Amino acid sequence: MSVVIVVGAQWGDEGKGKVVDLFTERADVVVRYGGGANAGHTLVIDGQKLVTHLVPSGVCHPGKSCVLGDGMVIDPQTLLEEVAQCQSRGLLSRGELLVGLGAHVILPYHKLLDGLREDRSAKTGKAIGTTRRGIGPAYEAKAARKGVRVRDLFKPARLRELVAANVDELIPLIAHLGGTPPTPAEVERWIEDALGYGRALSPYTGDASRHVAHAVASGQHVLFEGAQGCLLDLDHGTYPYVTSSSTIAAGACQSAGIGPTAIDAVVGITKAYATRVGAGPFPTELHGDAGDRLRKAGNEFGATTGRPRRCGWLDIPALRMGARLSGMTSLALTKLDVLAELPEVSVCVAYMVDGKELDEPPIDPDDIARAQPVYTSFPGWGKLPSDARDVTDLPGPARAYVETIERMAGVPFCLVSVGPDRSETIRLHDPFA
Ligand code: IMP
Repeated sequence: MSVVIVVGAQWGDEGKGKVVDLFTERADVVVRYGGGANAGHTLVIDGQKLVTHLVPSGVCHPGKSCVLGDGMVIDPQTLLEEVAQCQSRGLLSRGELLVGLGAHVILPYHKLLDGLREDRSAKTGKAIGTTRRGIGPAYEAKAARKGVRVRDLFKPARLRELVAANVDELIPLIAHLGGTPPTPAEVERWIEDALGYGRALSPYTGDASRHVAHAVASGQHVLFEGAQGCLLDLDHGTYPYVTSSSTIAAGACQSAGIGPTAIDAVVGITKAYATRVGAGPFPTELHGDAGDRLRKAGNEFGATTGRPRRCGWLDIPALRMGARLSGMTSLALTKLDVLAELPEVSVCVAYMVDGKELDEPPIDPDDIARAQPVYTSFPGWGKLPSDARDVTDLPGPARAYVETIERMAGVPFCLVSVGPDRSETIRLHDPFA
């Protein structure tokens, strides 16, 4: 096995950072494949926190090639800030970073539009709750074939023409949404800034698709690091409450430009409970004290926006759907320790909609919103042994919980995390083996 995709199984924030960090030990190349600075990983290096939004978590392992795929939408200012942060900690100093020349660039007008739309939709209760990082508008420009790609940052005339044409089209929209259209001087500054970012980024840019294809062909271990989660997928998620990229495993092939036949394994990451940021149906959501308790225990606040995450019980129908959409070959369970002090732990095993039992979420988000979860409950299990190295080392109810998830999701676990530290991990199977 040499090519592995790691993907969030539900709505993102499943704790991919720790898992990717562990798998990166065995990887030669780590490829971030979707979205942009809407994602966030908190990494701890020598006791110091490093929050990355664009650079793959593999950055913590010097010498591993870190690739940003062509399917991403990259905010060049954020990327340069992250590169500087990494370099100040002695990372990314050996030419490890490669940014795909075909990736799209997020420019200030994308963020402006994202914010204006959200503000306007909020007035009618229809906001998606985006991260306001300009992700949707940048992907819209890409689909309309008007986007600015990384390679355009090196061509002043082309960049000027593209930005001018985009802004020209957007001015009436910005005004319609109640925003202040940019002045020509402001647009000129955006262009100059973008050219400056291009100059600073140029040593890190290249043909990402060929680089990854070469790594695959030469038998190197390649790890694809997904952002967000399967149910936020633009095509298959809980639309319209989704992000604007392909978050399922197939997105890795599309973004990196490699064929699906190259993929050996797909690991889905699921937390031991569920969270969601932003709007959209969430049948197992816990409100009031119960939700607050889980949020506090799991420190469930967004790494990108700081927003409190909505928290609830693990949702097997949603997990099954994620597993199906991504063709998961194994699962990694994270944050089992967060449930440790609860008197009782529940898991949703099915939904009831109009008297029918469903094993996966219905298609329409309104139907998901009114789905009644069917729960199975487990007695609390108290503190987990941090030296647990096998599922049999877990207290009885915790073990039954893990085995129930595995059985009902129909996908075996390769890893169970019982604490934040790298050592607090039950490793059952190496996806690269
Ligand atoms: P956007 O990606 O900023 O357009 O946001 C669209 C939806 O995806 C919103 O509900 C966001 O909260 C959600 N989202 C985007 N990125 C992440 C992530 O990394 N984790 C969890 N939710 C995310």
